[in-house]
Amino acid sequence: MQIAIYTIIIASLMSVKPIVTESKNDTTTRPKIDRSYYQMPTFINVCDISDRRSKLHCYCDSNKPKLATKVDCWIFSSGITKDDPIWPSFISQPEIERLTFNVRIEDALTFIPAKAIVRLDKLKYISIQLATIKRIPPYAFTNSSTIRQIILKSNKISTLEKHSFSQLMMLSNLSLDDNHICELKRDVFFNLPNLHILHLSNNNLSLLHEGCFKHLNNLIELRLDTNYISVITKEMLEGLENLSKLNLKNNKLTMVGNLAFSELWGLKELMLDNNAIEYISERAFGGLIQLRKLTLSGNKLTSFYEDVLADIRSLIVLDLRDNLLTTISYETIRPVVENDKALSSVVYLDGNPLSCDCRLAWIYALRNETKDSTLKNALEKVTCLTENNDIDRNLNDQIGEQGENPNLVSHTSYEYYDKKMERTEFEMDDEINITDETQDMPIKLLDIPVEELSCPKELMKSIQDSYGHPIQNEIRLKAFSGIHTKFTLSNVGTAPRFNPSLEHSKPGYFTWSFSVGNDA
Ligand SMILES: *[C@@H]1O[C@H](CO)[C@@H](O)[C@H](O)[C@H]1NC(C)=O
Ligand SMILES: *[C@@H]1O[C@H](CO)[C@@H](O)[C@H](O)[C@H]1NC(C)=O
Ligand SMILES: *[C@@H]1O[C@H](CO)[C@@H](O)[C@H](O)[C@H]1NC(C)=O
Ligand SMILES: *[C@@H]1O[C@H](CO)[C@@H](O)[C@H](O)[C@H]1NC(C)=O
Ligand SMILES: *[C@@H]1O[C@H](CO)[C@@H](O)[C@H](O)[C@H]1NC(C)=O
Repeated sequence: MQIAIYTIIIASLMSVKPIVTESKNDTTTRPKIDRSYYQMPTFINVCDISDRRSKLHCYCDSNKPKLATKVDCWIFSSGITKDDPIWPSFISQPEIERLTFNVRIEDALTFIPAKAIVRLDKLKYISIQLATIKRIPPYAFTNSSTIRQIILKSNKISTLEKHSFSQLMMLSNLSLDDNHICELKRDVFFNLPNLHILHLSNNNLSLLHEGCFKHLNNLIELRLDTNYISVITKEMLEGLENLSKLNLKNNKLTMVGNLAFSELWGLKELMLDNNAIEYISERAFGGLIQLRKLTLSGNKLTSFYEDVLADIRSLIVLDLRDNLLTTISYETIRPVVENDKALSSVVYLDGNPLSCDCRLAWIYALRNETKDSTLKNALEKVTCLTENNDIDRNLNDQIGEQGENPNLVSHTSYEYYDKKMERTEFEMDDEINITDETQDMPIKLLDIPVEELSCPKELMKSIQDSYGHPIQNEIRLKAFSGIHTKFTLSNVGTAPRFNPSLEHSKPGYFTWSFSVGNDA
């Protein structure tokens, strides 16, 4: 009660004071002043700006004082400053929950309007788009304890400073997409205990300092796609222990080193598509025991360690499309398709220059065995390249009879990522001409009868050589067939699910027949 009375007294004193001063001046001297300036109320209602010269106009769900909750402001002319009286005037609408600034001309807004934000105690969502905000200063959002979402898309932001995003207790979503951010220093993101989603897509990021996400222990989704990141290490990802989804598509990664993602204990989805990855270390995905989806399409992988996925027990989607793989063994993808926890799982392999030979015979068996239509469809799309041999001629004969070739996949769908992205049109035309003359067209693997898959002597030799011998990693890397490994696995006591049998049909070739067994 007393407090209320004091408040009233203080308030009345404050409102009386300026009138007293003014009247004092009025009675003494009468300077020639612009009366209209003084009559203008200090705080105008931002939802009801009648001055046509105002640089900012807002559209509100209610124009009445203190009633607007959703406010869209438009800035049409340049020159608005941090000290413009319009910013403190946002106190005229203290109920604002959603605030948007849309900028229509270059350089019209060059800073985060902190003087508006600091007065809005109910603000939950703020969005600023198409402004020219080069840097985000420390505590730019004035330590708001109510803001949940900040969207700063397309604002030409290049520099994030230490504590740019800090002390925002409720902040859950932050989007910095489509800016020019080059590096992420430590402590840019600080004390954001509720940040779950961070988007940094389409920036100019090439340098991620070690520990730059260290304080984001509750982050669930991180998007770093379409940047210039060429290296990713464990130290950069330190602290992201609750991360579930990491998107690194469209970057410049060339390799993935051992344990790069091992800080991310809870990761479920890892997207590495459209990089230039040539090499993946044997333990690159070590520690990712919960990973469900791994996508690596559009890279430059020529081989894949058989053990790379061995630790991952939950993988249900593996995408290896549009790489440079010349073969792939059953052993490599076994953790995916034999994942008993999964109701359905799928492996995508199309768009690789796989060689049409007996090392791919497992694909036939798996296709016949699986009841999962997604996996079946994905396997049916696998194409391979033949060397000029019997199969090719046979197929061509059949095609001649049928009039058109259903087995040939058009060239356009068989361009590799690097060709698409990095070659000029002229070079590409060149490439196609050369390809037409010298290389074979990819054919659908499953259109070749399995018994006609070539199995040249050298290939058989390398497979047979490894029978009975302890398999060295070096040999495994050389790829060949899951078949020899299966043999090895059965030697060491693991029951193979596919039981290949081979017999001589003609000199130099083996005919393969597969019987699919149940787990023994
Ligand atoms: C009003 O009077 C006070 C002193 O009484 C003086 O300091 C102030 O500058 C005056 N203001 C104007 C606008 O003349
Ligand atoms: C925000 O918090 C920091 C650190 O506690 C402090 O230095 C800064 O002045 C605060 N800013 C505002 C606008 O309250
Ligand atoms: C954050 O973003 C997600 C996904 O875009 C959305 O579902 C969620 O409602 C957002 N949360 C807040 C607090 O805005
Ligand atoms: C973006 O990064 C590239 C290479 O890292 C650099 O050449 C370019 O100048 C950068 N652009 C901007 C706007 O910072
Ligand atoms: C983050 O992980 C911790 C355990 O490491 C857990 O207690 C917490 O609930 C998780 N937070 C979220 C948002 O999942």
